[in-house]
Amino acid sequence: MKNYETILVEKRESVALLTINRPDKLNALNSKVHTEGVEIFDELKTDSDVRVVVIRGAGEKAFVAGADISEFADTTPVEQRDVMNSRSLFTVLDTFPKPVIAMINGFCLGGGNELAMACDLRIASDGSRFGQPEINLGIICGGGGTQRLTRLIGESKAMEIILSGDMIDAQTAFNYGLVNYIYSVEELETKTMELAGKIAEKSPIALQMSKEAVKFASRSNLDEGLRREIDLFAICFSTEDKKEGVSAFLEKRKPVFKGK
Ligand code: COA
Repeated sequence: MKNYETILVEKRESVALLTINRPDKLNALNSKVHTEGVEIFDELKTDSDVRVVVIRGAGEKAFVAGADISEFADTTPVEQRDVMNSRSLFTVLDTFPKPVIAMINGFCLGGGNELAMACDLRIASDGSRFGQPEINLGIICGGGGTQRLTRLIGESKAMEIILSGDMIDAQTAFNYGLVNYIYSVEELETKTMELAGKIAEKSPIALQMSKEAVKFASRSNLDEGLRREIDLFAICFSTEDKKEGVSAFLEKRKPVFKGK
């Protein structure tokens, strides 16, 4: 893969580790991060060696401290609307066919929290802090915060976080169900890569179908969701991975999934 200005890409076996690399600005998401991120995810989508993606922020202080506020200064409403409606990193993550894990160490604010919520799993260090501080700037969330936070933790808690602009600590984020796990900063990477590695051993097709089905749950009614699940379940019966998974179980061995 080529080198990017704002995101480092490293491949560790079948896991791609992306690092948003603007530590001096607490990894704030400027338009370059969005453009490069979209390009990287487009490339990883078709890279069959990569089965899971982990995304983190550079440095010790932040996952991502939000959208780059300096870019807000001179933007007109129409320009800003076009930016948000364009193919942003949030939208790309939402439809990315492979699991994506946010590995969070430090501030996870505004667009950073929205980015983490567009991922499939969130794992944080115990000192991390989360929030949607847009209200303090006289604006509202624009990267899905009002929608995804509400779906993840419920209206009452989402409303408080969004209206107050206050940060919550990692333990509270865990109690609310915003993050899947919290670990000490020393353990964070090992534990995250362990889980990523475990998921990477599953059938890539079954992972994709599972992700699509789970995401559909919050976008449909139960009957539509159950029908979609059956269709995706049936598609799995056409794959070599299904034959391999069933044979391996019956032969009492570990399956080797090829994504076919
Ligand atoms: N956009 C642009 N730059 C940002 C930024 C953002 N969202 N968040 C932090 N930075 C920059 C700061 O301007 C500063 O740059 P400088 O050294 O050139 O002045 C640098 O990152 C370090 O941040 P600083 O504020 O000095 O760190 P801190 O430890 O005192 O405070 C925060 C940390 C996260 C509390 C504070 O940076 C902050 O409130 N950031 C904005 C969070 C926000 O509102 N996000 C939502 C945006 S919609």
